[in-house]
Formats: sequence, C-alpha cells, structure tokens
Amino acid sequence: MSSKLYPFWVVGHRGAKAVAPENTLVSVRRAAADGAKMVEVDIKLTADGRAMVLHDELLDRTTDGSGPMEQTLFEAVSALDAGSWFSPDFKGEPVPTLEELIDVLAELSLAVNLEIKPCPGREAETAKVCIDVARAAWPSHLPPPVLSSFSRTSMEVARDLARDWPRAWLDEKLSEDWDDLAVALDVQAAHLGTKDLTEADVRRVLASGRELAVWTVNDVARAKQLRSWGAAAIITDNPALLIAGGDGLA
Ligand code: G3P
Ligand code: MG
Repeated sequence: MSSKLYPFWVVGHRGAKAVAPENTLVSVRRAAADGAKMVEVDIKLTADGRAMVLHDELLDRTTDGSGPMEQTLFEAVSALDAGSWFSPDFKGEPVPTLEELIDVLAELSLAVNLEIKPCPGREAETAKVCIDVARAAWPSHLPPPVLSSFSRTSMEVARDLARDWPRAWLDEKLSEDWDDLAVALDVQAAHLGTKDLTEADVRRVLASGRELAVWTVNDVARAKQLRSWGAAAIITDNPALLIAGGDGLA
C-alpha cells in the first residue's frame, strides 16, 4: 500500500471492541496483541475539562456510573469501572485519560486515530484540549495521531492548531459538498461509514486527492472489496479476524 496516513490496513475500533471493553487500555493492548498496528479511540472532556477516552455522552452504558460525562468531574470519572459491563474479567478497568492512553501507545509503538467526540457545545474546547494534551505528551518514536471528527467546528480548530498533523473528515456518508469541505478543512482523508458506501464514493474521495478509511468493517469479504476499490484502511471491532482474513495485511 502506498498510503502515508495509514501505513496499516487494520485499525482497531475503540481498541478491540468485539473482544474487550471499548475505549479502555486493556482494549488497546488487546488490539495490539491481536496484531493491529493502529487503533481508533474517542476523546471527550469531563466537566472540569480533562480529556478522557469515552464514546457516549452518558456514562451509563460503558461504566458503572450514570449521567452526562460533561457534568461529571474528572475525580469521579476516574474512579469508575469501565470494564465490568463487558465482562467480570475486566472488573476495575478505568476510563483512561488521554495521557494514560499515550503512555500505552508509546510502550506498544502503536499508531492512533484520535476521534474528537465533543459533547454538544464543547466542539472547539474538546479539540483544543485534545491537541494540547497530545502535543505535550507525544512520543517522538510514534507517528503523529490522525485527528478526526464528525464536528466541523472541531475540525476547524484541528486545522488551525494541528496543521502539521494528519486530519480526516468523519461522516456516515460521503456528502454532496465533500470537495469543498475537504478544501475548507484542509483534511487529507475521509473516514466514512461502510453501510451505504459505493465504489463511486471511493473514487470521488480518491479523485479529490484524499485517502479513505472505512468504519466499522467486521466482515472480511467487505474489507477485501473496499481494498480493491482503493480504501487505505478499515476500522474494525475485531482486528484478529480482519488480519487473519487479510492476505497478510495487518
Ligand atoms: O471513527 C470511526 C468511528 O468510530 C465513528 O463512529 O460512533 O463508533 O465513534 P463511532
Ligand atoms: Mg469513534
């Protein structure tokens, strides 16, 4: 593959979401143990502005806490159990801070896609904190993080504060105004949902001079089709399965 943004075909979604509690350090470690060289995680802020690895606006689904993350202080979020909901085997696994995540990435020499996932109204702040924390802690031996977001405001902040880092527009589908958006946000890639993605969509992204990663791909046949169309990477819940079926690609 000739991709610069994605030297790796398989990106572990929220770590290895299918086999470990999503967005935890044990999930990131599992993705690496299963052969992934890159993972995707979601970054949100606590009430007091700490960047942590969590997907939902509410704490309820993936922790033993409840209520909105954005109204909960760091001290309380960091005391939660983010593993037991998945399996008793993961009891006590915490919600990681971005700093703790970076330490594990450094230890494992693992590349990352940081999805900036703001709570409504905190789009600019979440991007700024995420970039500031990552910049302060980024290990020199790792490739820079690929920054992505569904939020246009977050991606505008990323464009302005992380111009030197790779950035991707994240969307369910390729939008009509993709070409204008790609130029305005100065992104190098699109991260698109697999559900309705067509070969024509892939061609359009590539014709704009950008790369494409596709989420969430848990089916080997679909992954091969996307590769034949020219996708640079797939984001999967189950890195082991997709690497095993990937004709030697990891
Ligand atoms: O970044 C790709 C994918 O994670 C986007 O959707 O909801 O799983 O964060 P979501
Ligand atoms: Mg995500």
